[in-house]
Amino acid sequence: MPLLELKNLTVGYTGAPILQGIDLSLNAGEIVTLVGANGAGKSTLVKAISGLLQPYSGEVLLDGRKINALSPAKRLREGIAHVPEGRQIFAGLTVAENLDLGAYGDRSDAEARAQRVAHVCELFPVLGTRLGEVAGNFSGGQQQLLAIARGLMSKPRLLLLDEPSLGVAPLLVAEIFRLIVRLRDEGITILLAEQNARQALAIADRGYVVENGLITLEGPARTLLDSPEIAERYLGVGTAAEVSCTESARMAERLRACIW
Ligand SMILES: Nc1ncnc2c1ncn2[C@@H]1O[C@H](COP(=O)(O)OP(=O)(O)OP(=O)(O)O)[C@@H](O)[C@H]1O
Ligand SMILES: [Mg+2]
Repeated sequence: MPLLELKNLTVGYTGAPILQGIDLSLNAGEIVTLVGANGAGKSTLVKAISGLLQPYSGEVLLDGRKINALSPAKRLREGIAHVPEGRQIFAGLTVAENLDLGAYGDRSDAEARAQRVAHVCELFPVLGTRLGEVAGNFSGGQQQLLAIARGLMSKPRLLLLDEPSLGVAPLLVAEIFRLIVRLRDEGITILLAEQNARQALAIADRGYVVENGLITLEGPARTLLDSPEIAERYLGVGTAAEVSCTESARMAERLRACIW
């Protein structure tokens, strides 16, 4: 049974549906990426999973159980953590305070929470050495690391990462993608919404293509990477973006070499 399933899901913001008839599944222990252009509906899909948006129709199933009616807070307690697009960390609070907020509502004892802070600091050494520093002093990439670390504070089974590479310097992007692989290897299931399709597919097990609110293609990430249709539309091959794409292809190769 998949860890999470969407069945014939229709969802939107104010009446008119944005996503229609979405079927998607996430199996425990895999990285699944959502590929799609600006405004295709990736973030909307992520919000429907974390509970920020209630579906108009269809089902959200966790461990085969319908969770449509569960609030975001309850879904968090069930193990679904959402790292939103644009990071949304609290710039005026310290790193430690931001991490505390990630464990908000958690009933485990202080020692268990301290262990979790220690674990995320081991994963993100740059945060560990600056726990008392105000988060607003950090670079965009470091703030993204903090947003992911905050998401991990709830000990999620499923981590929803919305555009983790957006506005992040290339070197740190590589680190973020490496971290995502490590988190998957630690047993966390990951849904990765990314415009950076090449790098996202390079680390993913499976992928879905979202176009105008519909899923138009799905399959093993390798198959999608090799698909001429995907290459043309999302990897920039044969377009004016070819030069920067060659760059990102090189980076994806380097990344793969680092991971495997
Ligand atoms: N809060 C909102 N209220 C109404 N419509 C919205 C809202 N947020 C997004 N939309 C609309 O929903 C559609 C899908 O947007 P969404 O943010 O899910 O796309 P996306 O694939 O995540 O895009 P991007 O790559 O830019 O992040 C767009 O037409 C967008 O204008
Ligand atoms: Mg988005």
